[in-house]
Amino acid sequence: MRFERSHTRKAVAVAVAGSLVLLASACGGDDGDSGGGGGSTGGALEGRGPITFATGKDTSGNLVNQVQAWNSQHPDEKVEIKELPESADAQRQQMVQNAQAKSDAFSVLNLDVVWTAEFAANRWITELPEDQFPDLGKLLPSTVDTGKYRDKLFAVPVTSDGGLLYYRNDWLQKAGVTAPPKTWDEMTAACTKVLALPEAKGASCYAGQFEKYEGLTVNFSEAVNSAGGVVVGEDGKPNVDTPEALAGLQTLVDAFKNKQIPAAAITYKEEEGRRAFQEGKLVFHRNWPYVYALANKTDGSSKVAGKFQVAPLPGKTGPGVSTLGGHNYGISEFAKNKATAADFIKFMASEERQKANVQKTSQAPTWASLYEDPALNKQYPYLAPLKASIETAKSRPKVIKYGDVTTAIQDAAYSALSSKQTPPKQALADLQTKLSSLITQ
Ligand code: GLC
Repeated sequence: MRFERSHTRKAVAVAVAGSLVLLASACGGDDGDSGGGGGSTGGALEGRGPITFATGKDTSGNLVNQVQAWNSQHPDEKVEIKELPESADAQRQQMVQNAQAKSDAFSVLNLDVVWTAEFAANRWITELPEDQFPDLGKLLPSTVDTGKYRDKLFAVPVTSDGGLLYYRNDWLQKAGVTAPPKTWDEMTAACTKVLALPEAKGASCYAGQFEKYEGLTVNFSEAVNSAGGVVVGEDGKPNVDTPEALAGLQTLVDAFKNKQIPAAAITYKEEEGRRAFQEGKLVFHRNWPYVYALANKTDGSSKVAGKFQVAPLPGKTGPGVSTLGGHNYGISEFAKNKATAADFIKFMASEERQKANVQKTSQAPTWASLYEDPALNKQYPYLAPLKASIETAKSRPKVIKYGDVTTAIQDAAYSALSSKQTPPKQALADLQTKLSSLITQ
């Protein structure tokens, strides 16, 4: 295939002073981004009592345990989970609507890494004084960066995410394929052999996430970056109408055409893909680390428990490039009980809670030390490729108008991959024009 949380008066004063500096710098418009005011009004993190936690659908099933661990220790500051939809775009929409209404219904927000700029610039989340989060230096640096806007901290990374290639080790071995593919061509060659096995009858070679939502932006960007292209360059300028980007998109288009990617994958988000892989319908599957624990369940929910392994994503001529994913916790500017909210964030981001979470869910921790933990590495052989995936991952554009940017990317990729069949070159030229008007320097 041609394929990818105590709080002092001093801290309050520091926070307020910091935000004045922030407002002053915001007037300078120095981030080369249009729109938005830049930064929070710096509301002090005051007030204790019950709070809510707005988060996407908990596909891991463990969030309730994590929150229960907090609630049992803080009977007067209980956290109520407000569960939002599974799709990242639908979560963002509800959080944005809530913020625009200045509602205090959501206290702590579980923010996708790509939303920080938009939420910070619009003052929907409160700037967080870094001295209240002394553990930040022990987290993977790229994850901390995703919680910052104009060098100020607005959200604390609690889970990271890097794309992984799940593969049917049992089938590969049986077909004589001794190592997972490093390139798209090697993946094609492996599939040719594996799909000739009687036990692989009816399976497809590969699927990622191709429904028209944030996951498509992730998968499209991985295809482009893994072919040597960029969506937005290091200089912050869109540069997607290139032969390299075309090679990436064309690979996906061709794979749909020749059915290496099953037609149904145009409707796949993370969960649909996971189910297909667990049902034995895929040889290779691009997904996030949370799938590892679920697909290995031996309660009958997965047909592939013990039969798969994980490798880095393949690319055009060598290892591919993952899109950096993950989730940061921020505090709604309109929330009550912000001191409780800050403590809850510290609790959830702590090494102890993150370790408890990865043990149960295989979600990627943000603490660097957990990737070196011998017991965890024994439980999860995927931790080494995962750390590599996260450290070499490419961020999506850090822009205030991220919602418009991702919609443009999704439109372009979907029009080429879906039955609309827009020629990939045309889709990329149109995308370049749209991104150039959205991302102004
Ligand atoms: C995962 C990632 C997030 C990404 C989303 C796309 O939740 O952590 O960063 O935007 O998937 O579906």
